[in-house]
Amino acid sequence: MRHHRATEIHDPATIQQRYRDMLAVFVTVLSLTSVGHSAPLACEKLVRPLVQLDLHNLVGRWALVSGSMKHDADNLSKRDSVTIDFYNSSYTQINNFGDECRYHPRNFSVEGQNLKVTESTFNLTVTFFHTDCADCALFTLNLESPHFNSEDFILLSKRRQLEQREMEEFRAQVECLNMPPPVVMDPSKDLCPEQKTSDPEDQTEKKA
Ligand SMILES: *[C@@H]1O[C@H](CO)[C@@H](O)[C@H](O)[C@H]1NC(C)=O
Ligand SMILES: *[C@@H]1O[C@H](CO)[C@@H](O)[C@H](O)[C@H]1NC(C)=O
Ligand SMILES: *[C@@H]1O[C@H](CO)[C@@H](O)[C@H](O)[C@H]1NC(C)=O
Ligand SMILES: *[C@@H]1O[C@H](CO)[C@@H](O)[C@H](O)[C@H]1NC(C)=O
Repeated sequence: MRHHRATEIHDPATIQQRYRDMLAVFVTVLSLTSVGHSAPLACEKLVRPLVQLDLHNLVGRWALVSGSMKHDADNLSKRDSVTIDFYNSSYTQINNFGDECRYHPRNFSVEGQNLKVTESTFNLTVTFFHTDCADCALFTLNLESPHFNSEDFILLSKRRQLEQREMEEFRAQVECLNMPPPVVMDPSKDLCPEQKTSDPEDQTEKKA
């Protein structure tokens, strides 16, 4: 199934649910738009896209600390942990489902301050934002494909758990972007090991 490749932060089993949710989401977006929500001035300070992407600092291992997803199908609470290993021009997202680690390697290109992933069935744009958290990476992740779009707002860190004030900053940023309340990952759950092979296909490794 081709859409299997569009399962970044997403569980492949939920793709069908996505289709069902689409109309509901569309209606929600329309009604939000018609309310004419205007972001308070504080949001301009809180939510600032990075003017320059420091790829060098991005390279390495990150744990997903918290994420806000517009689609219930993206529900992070189904996973024990999510790790992202960034390399120079690729990254591997590793979802830990408790009994197995699922590896999703992607090549990206840098376009301005954004990262772009272009696959045959979907496009992904990663836009980075400023955060006061020193060892964090904050970005929106927009997925576009012929059958669905999604938007996620993701906080990665070198640490598994952040200070309360750092989480408060993130929650405020989520509100500024009109995104749903974020899911906070359980910091006690294991991260999956780094991918050992160079096989470009998505892989699953059963835990012993
Ligand atoms: C994710 O799923 C859990 C349990 O299945 C549910 O309680 C929660 O509301 C869901 N979160 C989102 C953001 O959909
Ligand atoms: C990544 O880029 C850095 C600096 O441009 C370079 O020194 C390093 O060899 C590259 N690593 C790989 C794996 O391409
Ligand atoms: C990434 O690019 C490399 C080199 O161009 C290629 O061998 C590999 O298959 C690509 N991986 C993915 C996941 O597309
Ligand atoms: C991805 O983006 C390119 C360029 O914007 C576009 O031509 C292509 O149709 C898009 N692919 C998908 C699957 O949406």
